Amino acid sequence: MAQADWSPKSWRTKPVKQVPDYPDQAKLEATEATLAGFPPLVFAGETERLKKRLGEVAQGRAFLLQGGDCAESFKEFSANNIRDTFKAFLQMAVVLTFGASVPVVKVGRMAGQFAKPRSAPTETQDGVELPSYRGDIINAIGFDAESRIPDPARMERAYHQSAATLNLLRAFSRGGLADLQRVHKWNLDFVANSNQGLMFEDMAARIDEALRFMAACGVTGETVPQLEETEFYTSHEALLLWYEEALTREDTTLDNAGKFYDTSAHMIWIGDRTRQLDGAHVEFFRGIENPIGLKAGPSTDPDDLIRLIDTLNPEDEPGRLTLIARMGSDKVRDMLPPLVERVKREGRTVVWSCDPMHGNTIKAASGYKTRPFERILGEVRGFFDVHQDLGTYAGGVHFEMTGQDVTECTGGAAAMITDEGLSDRYHTHCDPRLNATQALELAFLIAGELKEQRRAPVKVLAAQ
Ligand code: PEP
Ligand code: CO
Repeated sequence: MAQADWSPKSWRTKPVKQVPDYPDQAKLEATEATLAGFPPLVFAGETERLKKRLGEVAQGRAFLLQGGDCAESFKEFSANNIRDTFKAFLQMAVVLTFGASVPVVKVGRMAGQFAKPRSAPTETQDGVELPSYRGDIINAIGFDAESRIPDPARMERAYHQSAATLNLLRAFSRGGLADLQRVHKWNLDFVANSNQGLMFEDMAARIDEALRFMAACGVTGETVPQLEETEFYTSHEALLLWYEEALTREDTTLDNAGKFYDTSAHMIWIGDRTRQLDGAHVEFFRGIENPIGLKAGPSTDPDDLIRLIDTLNPEDEPGRLTLIARMGSDKVRDMLPPLVERVKREGRTVVWSCDPMHGNTIKAASGYKTRPFERILGEVRGFFDVHQDLGTYAGGVHFEMTGQDVTECTGGAAAMITDEGLSDRYHTHCDPRLNATQALELAFLIAGELKEQRRAPVKVLAAQ
């Protein structure tokens, strides 16, 4: 894909948004050189395999589940946190696989999700104005002038944390935790007694029964490794382009010689605030081979979207481009159809995924930023309905969640978090996340929608 006029640093000639102004340029350059010498975090072969899997999603034969933290942080970095988020993720995935009989492509917002775009460059508290917090890879969350100074050395720390997280995720996915025979163990303690936890136990019992039957027929983890292992991929918003450039490498294996891969994650995406056609982020993304995501909020214009698709996926490679719609529950039914129709009419191959989080953030009376669970479910339902009406495939969801028992999004049948309850365990470094019980509830809803989608005959649009 890399074109003659592209290089890993050609983004520097374009206008760039949402990146910090580093006061110490010499330190920035030294950090870039250090990072450029570090080993890749992921490999071209894995990245290509994910693209192939997403190609299956684009063609309606699999479903994309993408989720994890809004912002990973240095403070919340621990084996238990990673394990619990991974368990909650596996639970969601198995609910979809078993409930809707569809292969699920699993992509975590993990092992690199550190840099955050902000709606305002500064933040004011009690009359004091400071630069906004932009994620632990850039500055610190503490509300004091020192904390908010962008420090390039944070990129090195983020790299090492990503490497350690990825190492644990690789071990979990290959080394037992992902074994379907341990499906009961994925229920986290605080989820187990909820309605969702009980529904999950019930499903796990049926999976056990199916596994025993298959074992009696000679199908076990020894003969079919997929029963004991899972493929798990990583992703993040590639916002901080100095970091991404330093980890972009030309592949040297015969299969991919001459191609550039961003080795910071398998999949990376462009945020809703940085998708300008002539901007630095689109320039960087167009030259790398990774599967990429593009967030599409309510301000997305259909003509611009087609131009972006032309630039980012000129060869119409299936699996290369995932469009992540994040309209808001009140807008999805009006704003999404013109985009889906246009992409369909132009015959472009994309994965359509739904981010029901970022268009549904409100400020609660208590002052906390929250997302009402009903709105999240409402956007997912709207997304599936739009695709059903247009005869297109609702291919995935993208959400923010954690395996911890946090109180960040209100509502949820089991969790029933109220406005007043938000302060109990509100830990996020950025946006409010679903806790594991709410995530499981969402998974059961999606499984239902998916089952329906797979049963219903696809309506074909009249000639357009
Ligand atoms: C995010 O995914 O955390 C995010 C900032 O999303 P968006 O770019 O859609 O606002
Ligand atoms: Co977010």
